[in-house]
Amino acid sequence: MLVLGIESSCDETGVALYDTERGLIADQLHSQMAMHAEYGGVVPELASRDHIRRVRPLTDACLAEAGVSLQDIDAIAYTQGPGLGGALLVGASYANALAYGLGKPVIAVHHLEGHLLSPLLAEQRPDFPFLALLVSGGHTQIMAVRGVGQYEILGETLDDAAGEAFDKTAKLLGLPYPGGPLLSRLAEEGDPTRFELPRPMLHSANLDMSFSGLKTAVLMLSKQVEAEHGSIDEQARKDICRAFQEAIVEVLVSKCIKALKQTGMQRIVVAGGVGANKQLRAALDDATRRRQYQVFYPPLKLCTDNGAMIAFAGAMRLKYATPAGGFTVKPRWELS
Ligand code: KG4
Ligand code: ZN
Repeated sequence: MLVLGIESSCDETGVALYDTERGLIADQLHSQMAMHAEYGGVVPELASRDHIRRVRPLTDACLAEAGVSLQDIDAIAYTQGPGLGGALLVGASYANALAYGLGKPVIAVHHLEGHLLSPLLAEQRPDFPFLALLVSGGHTQIMAVRGVGQYEILGETLDDAAGEAFDKTAKLLGLPYPGGPLLSRLAEEGDPTRFELPRPMLHSANLDMSFSGLKTAVLMLSKQVEAEHGSIDEQARKDICRAFQEAIVEVLVSKCIKALKQTGMQRIVVAGGVGANKQLRAALDDATRRRQYQVFYPPLKLCTDNGAMIAFAGAMRLKYATPAGGFTVKPRWELS
């Protein structure tokens, strides 16, 4: 079974081919990051237009990479939501037109299900059931995954997503878009002992989180450093980045361990853009190793948005669950 996957929910056009026998046989991606950088964030109209420009050449590149033709494809999976309405419509229209022309089924995939199942594309794959820490620009949730299509939200952020907190904090520190990855690179050179920021909801009994207060705390800290030294020099900025990252990582890791203890599960997977964060990975590796839990990650390049996870989730739905079809988009859509 050969599934073409199309991702266009935000600022990445991803097209990939997943073969249930051979695995991922083609994976093509175009990031619009450079285009949006000029505006300091994603401009939805520009995103939609660029998806239109890219999706067909990327499909051709996929077919060439895998050495197959359109007629070899058995089903077409696309991201139906959540995401930017116009951007999603490009992928939905393209996938449905292609499926109609080829007389093949179309599979509507939830973007977060794509992220959630992406660790199964790694060499080291977890068995079901497992816990998932989903940390992206739009979502931060801890979920119980009992099988394909069997998801339960155990805890989530009450305000900003972790990636959003990274991006907003980066912006207020004057870092260029996209701020999250850059903030984390600066944090690596920062002193973890110089500043201390609060750990919101660290000791709350439940698995919910809150990150919006952290950026306010960073703003206050920056003002304090500026008042004391006249300006924020490079090292101080790195130290503030480090303090922010220390706080967010500690909260995420502590909630993961709490979730493992509460559910009695043995495995946790990390998915979504913030899952690329090195300090988060190191801290989770350490915390799980000490308690004899197992942690799994998607391959680094599949942490952020991509077509491979959509092709894969589509193939899993075909195999293990009832795949939803349809020609529509769902900009807001809870995964359940
Ligand atoms: O999963 P993703 O590509 O898109 C969404 O579905 O949201 O995640 C993007 C988010 C952005 O907020 C970005 O700043 C964050 O992931 N991100 C990181 C890192 N790489 C990407 N945050 C912290 N450290 C990183 N290394
Ligand atoms: Zn995503």
